[in-house]
Amino acid sequence: MYHLGISKSSDPDNVSQCSSIYHHERGCSSQSGEEGSSGTVRKHSSLSYGHVSASPLIGLPEVSHLGWGHWFTLRDLEYATSRFSAENVLGEGGYGVVYKGRLINGTEVAVKKLLNNLGQAEKEFRVEVEAIGHVRHKNLVRLLGYCIEGVHRMLVYEYVNNGNLEQWLHGAMRQYGNLTWEARMKVILGTAKALAYLHEAIEPKVVHRDIKSSNILIDDEFNAKVSDFGLAKLLGSGESHITTRVMGTFGYVAPEYANTGLLNEKSDIYSFGVLLLEAVTGRDPVDYGRPANEVNLVEWLKVMVGTRRAEEVVDPNLEVKPTTRALKRALLVALRCVDPDSEKRPKMSQVVRMLEQDEYPFREVLTNFLLQMLTINYLFICLISPYYILIIFYKIDKE
Ligand SMILES: Nc1ncnc2c1ncn2[C@@H]1O[C@H](COP(=O)(O)OP(=O)(O)OP(=O)(O)O)[C@@H](O)[C@H]1O
Ligand SMILES: [Mg+2]
Repeated sequence: MYHLGISKSSDPDNVSQCSSIYHHERGCSSQSGEEGSSGTVRKHSSLSYGHVSASPLIGLPEVSHLGWGHWFTLRDLEYATSRFSAENVLGEGGYGVVYKGRLINGTEVAVKKLLNNLGQAEKEFRVEVEAIGHVRHKNLVRLLGYCIEGVHRMLVYEYVNNGNLEQWLHGAMRQYGNLTWEARMKVILGTAKALAYLHEAIEPKVVHRDIKSSNILIDDEFNAKVSDFGLAKLLGSGESHITTRVMGTFGYVAPEYANTGLLNEKSDIYSFGVLLLEAVTGRDPVDYGRPANEVNLVEWLKVMVGTRRAEEVVDPNLEVKPTTRALKRALLVALRCVDPDSEKRPKMSQVVRMLEQDEYPFREVLTNFLLQMLTINYLFICLISPYYILIIFYKIDKE
């Protein structure tokens, strides 16, 4: 079933669609994204993001406020996560374990307990975290603060309540239905905007280095919230498991980065291209379960598009297929992003513009409509109004 509701916002970018997003019985409710955690259905805290709401840090001790966020004690976070209990584990990635928590003021948070704290000098850690902490965008997960105590290093993020893109495409969230094409494109466009911001709008720019579907969190209005930006740099010093980590995730890594370690924003753009192909096809970037010529998503796509079989690559789980025009646009953008020559890849701001051009037909319709209205008014003025003027003159004359 489809639902389409547009909620207004002062930010035109913020127009949120809920949903025509996914086919199923959940409607636009807010449920937890994790499998197996108590209950699954959760109500939004009034402090959750997405709506204009009080600061998630209101009510916390003022002495610990940083310019941009909060300095948490280990005790604060032990309290929030019930002593880092197993039921509160949201998952584990290359940087550490992530726990769900609730602060004393009621704000829901995700606490990332970092693995490689040894050797990370306190000052260096603070400088880097504060650099990330200052970065704000509606498509970036907000960092609320951090904890440095003894060997512990933790990052405290806003909690994003609707799973991540990987779970929606291939994992736990599939039980709730399939993401529609519109939802996928909304998530992709939000991701593109977040990257354009990190690469082009702030100084010094931030290269994410680990763009992949599990790092694209999703809120209950299907806005993308890119997570873990800046982490690779923050944790990149030293430790060997981190060195492999910095190499990003298999299947998403740009060839020049994999071969030479050369890293700039162009490698994020490559990973974004892979992400877009993943969203269109519903396939993993590397899938050994498929025939040899289909294992690598990018290579398979190039062959399919080159042999004019683009229509066949669409995720078979999509109940309503995209229009040919929308599909071709998405594939074109993705293939440009995964160009082996990093110089030929578009900038993220160009990617945003290209993806937004899909809205062009609506603008065209609107322009035609306005033109028609103008013509009608013009006809009225030219043909009908002289007739009225004559009548008025006639009346005045008689009087
Ligand atoms: N702010 C958050 N709100 C809700 N869930 C989160 C948040 N941050 C992370 N998670 C969830 O926690 C789990 C673990 O995330 P984590 O970032 O550690 O692993 P990952 O994304 O798979 O790998 P990587 O280490 O490369 O980022 C994921 O399921 C992720 O969706
Ligand atoms: Mg992550």
